[in-house]
Amino acid sequence: INKENLKLLITDPMDNVMLQMLQERGIKVDYKPEIDRNSLLNEISNYDVVVVRSRTKVDKEIIERGKNLKIIARAGIGLDNIDVDEAEKRGIKIVYAPGASTDSAVELTIGLMILGARPIFQGISMVKSGSFKKLPGVELAGKTIGIVGFGRIGTKVARVCQALDMKVIAYDVVDIKERAQKMGVIPVNTIDELVRESNVISFHVTVGNDAKPIVTEEHFRQMKEGTILVNTSRAIAIDGKALLKYIDERKLTLVTDVFWHEPPKEDWEIQLARHDRVLITPHIGAQTKEAQYRVAVMTTKNLIQAIQEIGVSL
Ligand code: MLT
Repeated sequence: INKENLKLLITDPMDNVMLQMLQERGIKVDYKPEIDRNSLLNEISNYDVVVVRSRTKVDKEIIERGKNLKIIARAGIGLDNIDVDEAEKRGIKIVYAPGASTDSAVELTIGLMILGARPIFQGISMVKSGSFKKLPGVELAGKTIGIVGFGRIGTKVARVCQALDMKVIAYDVVDIKERAQKMGVIPVNTIDELVRESNVISFHVTVGNDAKPIVTEEHFRQMKEGTILVNTSRAIAIDGKALLKYIDERKLTLVTDVFWHEPPKEDWEIQLARHDRVLITPHIGAQTKEAQYRVAVMTTKNLIQAIQEIGVSL
């Protein structure tokens, strides 16, 4: 194929710079940022390239129907909405944008952590509805935060928490010992240890589409009463059904930007979402002007390279 007949579909909202960069290279783009699953299933066979964010699920069925698919571009970091194994089996390239949204994810995490500690949301709602009284919270200084996933985002969250005079401990599946110690973060060997010692637990994990929860029923039992769980990574890191059972008993708070289904769908998800000590934002961690610009630029650069690698000259 050549660039004139290369067919490229964008299925989620993207910063304009992506369309500009592709058009500058003479690549024609079909931009359908609100396409639903059925339309995508019907149309995907027409395309060589599909560009998605987290809304569009590129699962086995989509990939099977996408007989001409050669490249999947994920404008973001998480690949959990893509069946990577199936794509690889069929020789489909995957490109994405690691690191482009780190700062935005960190900033939302800190915001959510503070929302978990202080009744800011409840206070604002109360005043708007006409009442005015003092609501109690807890202080973060002097408390321990356990960071699950000490990558780009987790590491920067750690630095901010240190500036807030929190004690920072961290867990990762890879060896983080030296890097953590150098910055005054205490590495822990097991998730059990992290869970037992933390007042706040913040999740910064990348997971596959077949991932299992990291924090499960046995961990909720071990948590300190009043632990605040913050999640700006993926909901699957936490066993949500088990959390629902323990949230009252352990007085836990969940402040999360991600949910098991987005929007909440199962009964237990809806119950959890309605709980007084659960605050949810609609997956906005990377949703800033700056992050979306960087994500679009990085994804497009990687995509252009991948298009050249499949033999299309641009
Ligand atoms: C990501 O994985 O990059 C984030 O979940 C953000 C997004 O897709 O909007």
